[in-house]
Amino acid sequence: MGSKHDTIQPHRRTLVLGVTGAGKSHHVRSIVSRVAQSGGSVLVVDPKGEYSDLSPCSPLDLVPRLLAGDDLRLRTSPQWQSLDSLAEDVSLVLDSLRWRPPAARPMLVVVEECGLLRGPARSSLEVLATVGRSYGVELVCVAQRASQIPATVRAQASRIVAFRQTLPADLEALSEVMGPSALDLRTLARYEFRAWSEGDAWSA
Ligand SMILES: Nc1ncnc2c1ncn2[C@@H]1O[C@H](COP(=O)(O)OP(=O)(O)OP(=O)(O)O)[C@@H](O)[C@H]1O
Ligand SMILES: [Mg+2]
Repeated sequence: MGSKHDTIQPHRRTLVLGVTGAGKSHHVRSIVSRVAQSGGSVLVVDPKGEYSDLSPCSPLDLVPRLLAGDDLRLRTSPQWQSLDSLAEDVSLVLDSLRWRPPAARPMLVVVEECGLLRGPARSSLEVLATVGRSYGVELVCVAQRASQIPATVRAQASRIVAFRQTLPADLEALSEVMGPSALDLRTLARYEFRAWSEGDAWSA
């Protein structure tokens, strides 16, 4: 279930997790390009600038386009100097999604580096994960550690793409969502992952 990811499903919440260099962004770029090629609307919050295939747009320029309900295929890379300024920019973007007009097309929103998000950005992410479906947003959250994702967002996950995780706190957080098979993640090689969907078994 859910292994093909080329259409936007506003009820789907995907977590992509794994240590640095494991292949998370590489994997998500392939999802983004499939969705974009099939005509879907895509926005990537890209603090490290890992999505150079997409056109860049600053957070401030992006907001009016979201409010207008534009169909987008963009990345936004906050020009952040500190975790506080990153949190402000990301919060602005995520909150603006709520005000897209009801007639706007569903949008895939990828939030990279969720583990770096603090204060207002974490709250905005929680709201988006919880009620974003009602404004047509499918969410993909990317982080190095499962335990860095807010518990509310983890609890909403309908799909998890897990690369190598080794720390007990992360394995425990994942076990809560997907059961004891989370322990298998300790043995994965670089670029290897397991995918889990609600009501589904693990698959390579
Ligand atoms: N399946 C793959 N096959 C070949 N190369 C890959 C694969 N996955 C990732 N890579 C390469 O490995 C490097 C690290 O991958 P990637 O940037 O996706 O890691 P990441 O998990 O996003 O790390 P970070 O958390 O630091 O952002 C990149 O140069 C990428 O092109
Ligand atoms: Mg990355």
